[in-house]
Order: sequence, then structure tokens, then C-alpha cells
Amino acid sequence: MSRYAYVNGRYLPLRDAKVHVEDRGYQFADGVYEVCEVRGGRLIDERRHIERLQRSLEEIRIPLPMSTKALGVILREVVARNRIGYGIVYLQINRGVARRDHAFPSPAVAPSVVVTARPLNKARNEALAKNGIAVIGVPDNRWGRVDIKTVGLLPNVLARQTAIDQGARDAWFVDAGGYVTEASSANAWIVTKDGTLVTRRADHAILRGITRTVVFDEVKGQQGLRIEERSFTLEEAYAAREAFITSASQIVLPVVRIDGRTVGDGKPGPVATALRQEFYRYAEAG
Ligand code: PDD
Repeated sequence: MSRYAYVNGRYLPLRDAKVHVEDRGYQFADGVYEVCEVRGGRLIDERRHIERLQRSLEEIRIPLPMSTKALGVILREVVARNRIGYGIVYLQINRGVARRDHAFPSPAVAPSVVVTARPLNKARNEALAKNGIAVIGVPDNRWGRVDIKTVGLLPNVLARQTAIDQGARDAWFVDAGGYVTEASSANAWIVTKDGTLVTRRADHAILRGITRTVVFDEVKGQQGLRIEERSFTLEEAYAAREAFITSASQIVLPVVRIDGRTVGDGKPGPVATALRQEFYRYAEAG
């Protein structure tokens, strides 16, 4: 089936969807992005993703190039043109096309806007969630503002590939103090022996995941679950009852091995499984 993308005002077949060689996203990773899940053809948590996008843009001083309503129309149009039932939509906004110079273009140029979408394989994702995944710890060598969802993802790319090269599925970044920050494209969680959910505080050292926020709402809505926003070490994670990651593309994905050590009984735990099953009761389908 043909795929389509939105590029700077036009909907184009993917093979014709191109950006300029002097696009600042390409030359400097001078831009931000969002990934939103699509389910039943509808965007999940669109409002929160757009709010986070606005914050990211403000932090790197790129003006929002159109109204959030217009952005929503484009996102839905790309989903519709690609006939996505279950999948993801990707949106990038960067500082635009200008002669290569580190300083912002002066006078300012129009930001570049690109939207793509692709289907995800539901059966494969469900199988992953049923079996759980293995992760490894890697040093967190990213910059100090990973709370901004920038397209500069080289450390994340290298961390993910290191994990794959070692037979794992993902990497958990570990900061200089020995504490887990997050996964290469997801937030990291554990469930302690006493049943408390633990995830790092959302400061400048992690991205405040939308899925993470929805899981907070979900935990509040369920009796008997406690949540703590604090740092944890890999050692604490090895000894945890459960571990999992959260992201828009994988929702709640159980982690059953960390650095080759089995977490809990080596199977996805009841807390992660229930959070995954109930997730859409707390998410917003737009
Ligand atoms: N990644 N942390 C990082 C570093 C991420 O890249 C992501 C999302 C998250 C989870 O955020 P959310 O729950 O809002 O998806 C945390 C997307 C899915 C990606 O890069 O593909």
C-alpha cells in the first residue's frame, strides 16, 4: 500500500517526501518531535502530545508554525491517507532551511514541519508484551536537557544498538551516580518487593513520558497500588518483583531480564500486565 507524508504544506507519496539539504533538522538536529499512538484509527492522548510539543518548541525557541488545531488536522489527515488502524504518527518541527550557520537564521525562516505515519504489528507487540523483554544498563552520556524531546538522538541510537548486539531488546541509561534514568525511547519502572511502583522524578534527566503520566492516573484510579517518584539503581531493579517500560509505541512493556539477571520469576508480572490491559480506560482517544 502506498504511504504518504506531510512535508511543509504538502501531502506527498513517501518516495517524493524529501527535505532540503540545508534543513536544520538534518544539519544540526535543531528540532523537536512527537510520536503518538494510533488505535482504531484514532490518536491516543493527542492533547497531551501537542502540549508537550509546545513546551519543547518553547524551550528551544522555535515558534509554533500553525495553530494546534491545524496541526491536529494534519496529523489526522496523514493517519487517514495511510489508512492506519493501529500504528504511530510521527511529527517533527525544526528551525527550518537556512545556510549552514550555528546561530539561529536571521531573519528567521519558516520552521519545517514533517508528519509521517506507519502501522505497527499488533500480534508482534502483543507477543513481546506476553513474553517480556531483556534490557541492559548503559552509561547515560546524553546532554543535560533530555526533558526536551529533540531529534538529537544519537546516544539513544547507539544505546539501542548496543543492547541488540548483546542479545537484549533495549537499554536503560544509568547516570553518573549509578541511578537509572530511562530507556532509550521509553520511561523505566520497577515494582518493589512490597508492591510499590517506582519511577524516576521527571526533572531534566528524563523525558516526561505521556504514557508515564497516564499510568500515574491509572494507578490513582486503582486501589492498593502505591507509586513513588524517585531514583533507583540497577541493583534495586535486579532485585525488584517486576520491571517495565512505558512509551507511546509500546504502552506498558514488561522487562523480565536486566543485564542477564532474571527479574522476579522471569515472566511479565501482574502489575505491568494489568496496567497494560487497563491503559486505554485512562488514555484519551481523540
Ligand atoms: N519515545 N523517554 C524517551 C527517551 C523517549 O524517547 C520516549 C518516547 C519516552 C516515552 O514517552 P511517551 O510515553 O510520551 O511516548 C521516554 C518515542 C516513542 C520515540 O522516540 O519513538
